[in-house]
Amino acid sequence: MPDVRPRAVIFDLDGVLTDTAEQHYLGWQRLADEESLPFDRAANEALRGLSRRESLLALLGGREVDEPTLEAWMERKNRYYVESLADMGPADALPGAVELVEDARRRGCRVAIGSSSKNAPIVLDKLGIADLFDAVADGNSVERAKPAPDLFLEAARLLGVAAGDCVVVEDAASGVDAALAAGMTAVGVGPADRVGHADYRFDRTADVDLGVVLQGNPS
Ligand code: BG6
Ligand code: MG
Repeated sequence: MPDVRPRAVIFDLDGVLTDTAEQHYLGWQRLADEESLPFDRAANEALRGLSRRESLLALLGGREVDEPTLEAWMERKNRYYVESLADMGPADALPGAVELVEDARRRGCRVAIGSSSKNAPIVLDKLGIADLFDAVADGNSVERAKPAPDLFLEAARLLGVAAGDCVVVEDAASGVDAALAAGMTAVGVGPADRVGHADYRFDRTADVDLGVVLQGNPS
């Protein structure tokens, strides 16, 4: 009997399908500069993939700030980020990103977005790729953000695919942690010091080889 269990590929959005990681960084940097908080590109690496609130808490590094100030700062950074999306269009998909999603579909996989961002629907719309996905789980879908497995489990639930039959493509350490915690196959996109703990690792989105991943022989 052929194996007819459905399989799925769940794609992170920021840093995998488009380079909004840079725009998130610039938003946080502007806020940090305005509030005289120490922050730079290197410190930003630790924020990759974290939710808006977790990002701000990491940026604050233990500094005590009351809740209304936290809310105001998150809102301001989000305003800078959303403003920076004004000119985004289909050309802002990362090289190979659309082809990778289409390849997953061609291989018979269901495909979903698993993004921590509450702005994921806007970004998908701007890129013109919203229709490619069978389901979207984003920052509005679950309470516990990555590295908790909840977001990817929600994507699998929406797709009707067992967690063990899902592959996650991620650029963040916290996202790889979340995929592994969900019992899914983790594909890391980026350097080994960031995503080397994934089951498979590729330098760039364009390099991801689903043929190898779906065959299931991690090197
Ligand atoms: C993730 C990004 O996808 O979404 C993070 O990697 C970002 O940098 C997080 O903080 C939350 O995004 P948003 O748009 O809800 O502030
Ligand atoms: Mg990401």
